[in-house]
Amino acid sequence: MIVPILFKNSGYIELKKIKDERDGSLIIANAIQDIPFEIKRVYFINQLENSISIRGKHAHRNLEQVIFCINGNFTLGLDDGTRKQKIVMNQDNIGVKLGSMLWHTMENFSSDCILLIFASDYYSEADYIRDYDEFIKLVNK
Ligand code: TYD
Repeated sequence: MIVPILFKNSGYIELKKIKDERDGSLIIANAIQDIPFEIKRVYFINQLENSISIRGKHAHRNLEQVIFCINGNFTLGLDDGTRKQKIVMNQDNIGVKLGSMLWHTMENFSSDCILLIFASDYYSEADYIRDYDEFIKLVNK
């Protein structure tokens, strides 16, 4: 996860990690200060036993999210309609902020992978663009 992120309104977010060799790690996410929006929703994805799963495959019209891999690893694919990038997510305290109108996929999950996502708004299916051709049309407008 060292490659710079190419997309506007997107980038890495590093959380403070208090590491105690024998007693585990403590990682802290403060709204606004660390996660650059008012957090309205938090969700997590676990039990990724099927390593060939591909999640995501959509973009959001307005929603902003910060995605963490708090255990294991996976590959995050990003695409703004012009450029594509793959990021290996394998550091529990380094997340990726996804701006709106960014097509994203999640794949190559390790079986112990756990994703934690902070979102700027409540769930709304109307905010999703699930058709890639529609996404390309909208970004080229
Ligand atoms: P989706 O966002 O498509 O999952 P992913 O991008 O991880 O593959 O959501 C999967 C299903 O869960 C879809 O039917 C919508 C539903 N869902 C909610 O009801 N509330 C939520 O907050 C989220 C994230 C999804």
